[in-house]
Formats: sequence, C-alpha cells, structure tokens
Amino acid sequence: MDKSAKIEFNGKSFTFPVLTGSENEEAIDIKNLRSEVGLITYDPGYKNTGHCISNITYLDGENGILRYRGYSVEELCQKKSFLEVTYLLIFGDLPSKDQIEKFQNDIREESLVDEDLKQIFKSFPKSAHPMGVLSSLTSALIAFNPQNETKISLNDKEGVSADDKMYLSTVRLLAKFPIMSSWTLRKIKGLPLNYSNNNLSYTENIAYMMFAKPNQEYVQNDIIVNALNTLLILHADHEQNCSTSTVRIVGSSYAGLYASISAGISALWGRLHGGANQAVIEMLELIKNDNSDIDKYLNKAKDKSDPFRLMGFGHRVYKNFDPRAKIIKKAADQVLNDLGIEDPILDIAKSIEEKALNDEYFIQKKLYPNVDFYSGIIYRALGIPTDMFTVMFALGRIPGWIAQWKEMRDSNNPIGRPRQIYNGPTHRTIS
Ligand code: CMC
Repeated sequence: MDKSAKIEFNGKSFTFPVLTGSENEEAIDIKNLRSEVGLITYDPGYKNTGHCISNITYLDGENGILRYRGYSVEELCQKKSFLEVTYLLIFGDLPSKDQIEKFQNDIREESLVDEDLKQIFKSFPKSAHPMGVLSSLTSALIAFNPQNETKISLNDKEGVSADDKMYLSTVRLLAKFPIMSSWTLRKIKGLPLNYSNNNLSYTENIAYMMFAKPNQEYVQNDIIVNALNTLLILHADHEQNCSTSTVRIVGSSYAGLYASISAGISALWGRLHGGANQAVIEMLELIKNDNSDIDKYLNKAKDKSDPFRLMGFGHRVYKNFDPRAKIIKKAADQVLNDLGIEDPILDIAKSIEEKALNDEYFIQKKLYPNVDFYSGIIYRALGIPTDMFTVMFALGRIPGWIAQWKEMRDSNNPIGRPRQIYNGPTHRTIS
C-alpha cells in the first residue's frame, strides 16, 4: 500500500504522499503544501530537505556507506581508475574497453588551452588563491566556447543536438580543468606552464602535469599516481552537498555547465566544506607550534564561547564514520611509509583522533574524522602546497558536478527558488 503522511493544521487534516527510494529512504512529498495548506516549511541549512530524486550516489550516514551508481567506494578504489569512475558517474555504468578508450581519446583531443586563456591565467597575481583563480578560469572557458555553453540544453539549428553539446562540454572540461589546476600549482612553485602528455592515462597525466620539471627526464612515481587515483575517486561525488547543490541550483536557471561549476568551485572553497582540508593542516601546524598541546585545542573546540572548531571533524550526514576517511587514513600511512617521509603532524592527527573518539563531547555529538582530516597529510607528502589542497578536491569533484548537473537538466526540474519567512518591518511610509 502506498504510504502517506498527514498534516493537521487549523482544524483540518491534509494527506501527502510518502516517496520511497531504492534503498528505502522515505520522504514526504510536500510539492503541494503551500497551495493546499497555505504553509511553507522552515529548514535552515536544508537539513531535512530533499531537493531532487537522484540515481547517482547513495550515502547512508548512520552506517558509513557511500556508493556511486550502486558500487561501493571501497571496491571502486581497489579495482578502477579515476577515469572509469568518472565515466560511471556521468553515464551511469562502468565503461567497456572500447567506451573508455573513446572517452580517453575524446578528452585528449581537447587537451589544448587557448593562448588567450593562458594570458588571463598569467595576469593573476602569484598571491591569488588557486580556488579563486580556478573558479574564474572555469567561468572564462565559456567565452572560448560560447555556442556550446550558453545554449547547451538546446538542439542547434545546424543540427548539433543538446546531447552532443553536453558531451563536448564534458570532455572539454575534463581535459582542461587538470591543465588549469596544474598551472596554478606550477605558478606557486615557479615552474613553467606545460601541457598534457597524451601517452599517459588520465591520472598519470595529472601527476605528470603537476610534477614534471624542466630539463629533467620525467620518471613516473607509481606511489604518487596510485595515491592520486584513490583520493580523486573518493572525492568524485557526495550527493547533495553544498557545492553540488549550488551547481544544480545555478544550472536550474538554464545557466550553462561551466557557469554552474564555477559557482560550485566557489562553494567548495569555504572552510566548512572542501576548504577544510587546507584548514586541517593549518590547525595541525598551529598545534605543533604550540608544544603539540592537543588537550588545549580539544578544549577550545568544546568551548561554546570559542569559535575554534576541530577542522576535519564532523559531518552533516555521517553520524557514525566517514568511509572515505577510513580509506584515506590507511593510504596516508602507506604513502608516507612508501615515500620514506616522517611527518610529525601525522602523529598529532592520530593523537587528536584517538582522544576525540574517547571524549564525551565528540561521542555525544557523533563527531568523527571526515574526508579532509587525513587527505592534506597525503597531499603534503606528495609535495603539493597547502593552498592547492582544495583544488585537489575540486579536481576529483568535477565528474560528480557534471553528473549531477546533467541529471538535473535531464529531469527538467523547475528553477531552484526557496521561500523565506519575512520578519522585517511591516509596511511603513517615508515621513
Ligand atoms: N568541532 C567542534 N564542535 C563541532 C564540530 C567540530 N568540528 N562540528 C560540529 N560541532 C558541534 C557544533 O558546535 C554543534 O554543537 P551544538 O549542538 O552544541 O550546537 C554540533 O556539533 C552540530 O554541529 P553543526 O554545525 O550544527 O552540524 P552541521 O551538520 O551543520 O555541520 C560541519 C557539519 C561539517 C559543517 C561541521 O561538523 C564542521 O564545521 N566541521 C569542521 C569543518 C569540516 O571539517 N568540514 C569538512 C566537512 S567534510 C568535507 C565535505 O564534504 O565538505
């Protein structure tokens, strides 16, 4: 029997359907709440609001489960490349050998960047934060691709279908975003800007573009490539988080893919979201330079009157553990060991975790290490500067944003437009 929920208001009873997802999640469908009952809902931070029906990522925060299109992230990290996972997220299934080869080749075809875009990049000061630069460059890509981007959802009179345009925009962004990201890194490091090596796989090429040095033969380090593969897969999608909801809501106005993703990059930048990976390392450094006084900082985090929070801890949906953090913690140990690096902040991080997991405050509030707690330690070991950490997150999240944008557009959702409860002055006149 179909389920329903009743709302009693002003002495009347109203019935609303209950939707059930494929993993038995249930939601009251309140599409007609305002027209039937005259009420809206109030839900700051959208903690209880589902704004779409999605087939992409399943997340069970209570049981620490994360799956892309049905496959667990644990299995994907072990058996698949980041590019295969990208294909899975965007097109719904793992690719065949032919499909992945075509996809890889189509991306390679787009691996040049217009010299004018390079000039825009060069005109940013060296001190500019890479996330600001990348958000701007992603937006600037529209100017180099106007026909495709501004009318991406329409079939052209010349016969180019909306699907073809979506595919072209997808492979272009997947080709150009790693180049633009590696340029931001190379600028910080004072290295000359380079282009893709099309003999390499997608993730190998990212490592090459970031780490190849001039006048030196590039020798691939498989520890680095494998670590990048794992990190990128773990960041590839996370259902309706702040940046992804931003991408969907911007796209819902019929803004193009790049405009929407540029907005997503800005949303990711904040320290409560992707920016936490940079904030974690800054926090661990702060603690290290303060005699490694972990208790002092745990107490600050617990103190309501102190704005300090334990960065890399807590999550809106994970209330048991973040499965990504488990994999990344193991990978951090392995990468540091394999590269022969001893980083004192790894020990500080582990002590913080141990103490916090046994502390009543963190237990009671269900605060666990999240994806950002150990990822920065790996990026640091790979020689990536702290300012670049959130860019690494964005690099991984591009496929998720594309998949979610595509799904939003294909499902023809209405424009995103929440309501409010007005609480300002009532009507007054100018005397
Ligand atoms: N340190 C200390 N207290 C915390 C922390 C923390 N990291 N996180 C949450 N709390 C407390 C918070 O003060 C609140 O206490 P009370 O109920 O007494 O008011 C309670 O726990 C619930 O927190 P909230 O802020 O209402 O929860 P939220 O779901 O709105 O926020 C969060 C989730 C991730 C923004 C938050 O846990 C946080 O600020 N964490 C630190 C930043 C961080 O690591 N962000 C990365 C998230 S994972 C990567 C991603 O996907 O973006």
